[in-house]
Amino acid sequence: MGGSELIGKEEKEAIAEVIDRGAVLFRYGFDEKRKNIFKVREFEEKFAQYVGVKYALAVSSGTAADRVALAALGIGPGDEVIAPAFTFVATIEAIMESGATPIIAEVDKSLNLDPEDFEAKVSEKTKLVIPVHMLGVPARMDKIMEIARKHNIKILEDSAQACGSSFRGKKTGTIGDIGIHSFDYVKTITTGEGGMVVTNDEELYLRASWFHDHGHQHKGDRPRGEDTKEIVGFNYRMNELQGAIGLVQLSRLDYVISEQRKNKSKIKEAISKIQGLQFRELPDEAGDGGDTLIFFLPNKGMASDFEEELTKEGVGTKILPSALGWHYIANWEHIIEELKDKVEYKVGMWPQSDSLLRRAIAIPISVKMTDAETDKIITALKKAAEAVLL
Ligand SMILES: Cc1ncc(COP(=O)(O)O)c(C=O)c1O
Repeated sequence: MGGSELIGKEEKEAIAEVIDRGAVLFRYGFDEKRKNIFKVREFEEKFAQYVGVKYALAVSSGTAADRVALAALGIGPGDEVIAPAFTFVATIEAIMESGATPIIAEVDKSLNLDPEDFEAKVSEKTKLVIPVHMLGVPARMDKIMEIARKHNIKILEDSAQACGSSFRGKKTGTIGDIGIHSFDYVKTITTGEGGMVVTNDEELYLRASWFHDHGHQHKGDRPRGEDTKEIVGFNYRMNELQGAIGLVQLSRLDYVISEQRKNKSKIKEAISKIQGLQFRELPDEAGDGGDTLIFFLPNKGMASDFEEELTKEGVGTKILPSALGWHYIANWEHIIEELKDKVEYKVGMWPQSDSLLRRAIAIPISVKMTDAETDKIITALKKAAEAVLL
C-alpha cells in the first residue's frame, strides 16, 4: 500500500498549516493572503528535483496526467498510440479521450511492453508509444527508446505504478519525452487523488500547464482574469491541501521503496528454490520499487489452484489475478465495443500476454510488514506450492 501506510502527524500538520495561514486552497494567486507560500508549486519543484527533470506539473490524478501529457504532445484524432495489453484501464481511457486510437501490443515476461511486438505494431499513423511500468518494475526502456527513435515516435512513460523506480539509474518517467505519475490512495506515495507530469522539454511543459488550467498561460505579471490564452484546455488542477500532503509523502518516498524492497527480497529469497515457480523478469532489478512479487505457474489451472490455496491461508493477491478485469484489454468488452469503428479487437488477439497474465500470481508487499507477516506469507506460499506443484 506504500505511502498511505505512513499517513499521520506530519500530513495532519501540513494541512493545518495551510488552513491556519489563510486557508487558500487554490494553487494560483491570493499571494498576500497565503503569505506567498505555494504548496503545489513547491511540491512540483521538489518532485522535479527528486526525479531529476527540469519541469514537473502537478495535476488532479494520474488519469488526468496521462490526458494532459497527450494534449501537450498534440496527440489527437487520426493518430495511433501504442500501449501494452496489461495496464490499468486509465491509460487507454486517456488515449480515447484525446481522440486518438489505442493500438494494443503484447507484454513480455517482464509484464511490461514487449519491444518486439511494439515494433511490429508501428504503422504510418503511429505518433506515440506509452510504455507502462507496471507494479513497480521498469519496462525495457533501452530497446523501447531505440525503436521509438528509429521510427520517429514520441514516448510517454506511464509511471503511475512506479513512482521512485528507475531504469539504469534514471527514474521512470524521465527517460522518454514526457512521463506521468499517480498519487492515488494505493500508489507508492499518495495525496488521496493526484498526479504529476514530468519532462525536460520546456514546450511540452508549457502546453501541459496551459491545458491543465483552461488554457491559462500563467503570465505572472497580470491578474488571472486578464491572463492570455492560445489553446483550449480543461481543469485538471491540483489543490493546496494535496500539495501540502504531497511534500510530506515525497520526503518518505526513499524510505517506502527501501522497506518494500527489503520485505520483498526476504519473501523472494525464501521461495526461490521452489521448482515450478518462475519469477517475473526484471529489466533492471536495482530499479524495482519492490511493491509486488510476481511469479508464473506452469499453467492457468495451477495458477488458479495456487491462488485458492493462498486464500485458505489468509493471503491475498494484488491485480494478478484478483483485479485482472481492470488491467487487461481482453477483459474490456466496453472499450472494444467503443473502438469498433476505428480498430477491430477480438479476445484472443494477445496470446503471449494472455498466457503470461493468466498464469501469474502477484503478492502485495507493504512498507510496514512485520516478521510475523512476511513469515505468514512465506509459509502460505510453500504450502500452496506443495499442494499444487508436487
Ligand atoms: C498504469 C496506470 N496509469 C494510470 C493510472 C491512473 O491513476 P489515477 O488513479 O491517479 O487516476 C493508474 C491508476 O491505477 C495506473 O495504474
